[in-house]
Amino acid sequence: MPTVYLNGAFMPEADARISPLDRGFIFGDGVYEVIPVYNGHLFRIAEHLQRLDQSLQGVRITQPHSHAQWSKIMHELVDLNGGGNQSLYLQVTRGVARRDHAFPANIEPTVFAMCSPLEPLADDIRRHGVAAVTLDDNRWENCHLKTIALLPNILLRQQALDAGGVEAILVRDGEVTEGAASNLFMVRDGCLITPPKGPCLLPGITRDLIMELAQANGLSAREATITPGELAAADEIWLSSSTKEIVPVTRLDEAAVGSGQPGPAWKRMTGLFQTYKSNYSEPGSI
Ligand code: PDD
Repeated sequence: MPTVYLNGAFMPEADARISPLDRGFIFGDGVYEVIPVYNGHLFRIAEHLQRLDQSLQGVRITQPHSHAQWSKIMHELVDLNGGGNQSLYLQVTRGVARRDHAFPANIEPTVFAMCSPLEPLADDIRRHGVAAVTLDDNRWENCHLKTIALLPNILLRQQALDAGGVEAILVRDGEVTEGAASNLFMVRDGCLITPPKGPCLLPGITRDLIMELAQANGLSAREATITPGELAAADEIWLSSSTKEIVPVTRLDEAAVGSGQPGPAWKRMTGLFQTYKSNYSEPGSI
């Protein structure tokens, strides 16, 4: 049985207990992170903890731990779950209080973390890519915060699945933002393009690494707004996330993307990403 972390203690998942009055349960009042673990190393841990700080600040929950404390908790949790490759989920909610929309006084945040298996991208996806569906982005205007209130994302993802895709690609005010649980890239005439950061999309850690790798390896890449028409005419489309790395989209709204197969730019970037991963070691201090 997996071991989880809850409010200062490690325990079997079945023994973890949270009050039904937790504001995470009642209101979806909390934030989270998902950190990939490769070979026991927490990948880009400093960047994930920085984004956690920003999410907590954005919803006015006090950061319960220093980065060093987080690192200790997470490493212990990874070890207790057997090391190797995992996906570490952590969540901080505002805490437990009688139901009232206003922030309660003197409340302790609830801190929870768990590990799940991290599966490599399926062979079939590597060979053939996935289908995606464009949908109206009807989420709120603080999508840069990684909050646990994901009902719009869940409904959009399910709508995409029901339409035969694996991900929803979201469009707000005539511009493509991101996926329901991923960031978006397109390749056009050899140039990699991703929408600029802002309140309409999550500043993805994988997204930032892809842009860094492009720059470090002399690939042409820039941030620019993307219209649905430009996306439909792209040579390649990719989705990025901590759990799936880089996924080639080969069908968009039932039409082929470019050649209809994962493209050369995706293959190149995936190679660079794998090399970066194998050379990665965690920073000494975070
Ligand atoms: N989701 N955009 C959204 C809305 C996301 O939920 C995610 C990741 C990303 C990619 O961010 P990153 O590269 O930092 O994982 C972009 C995680 C994996 C999830 O909710 O499970």
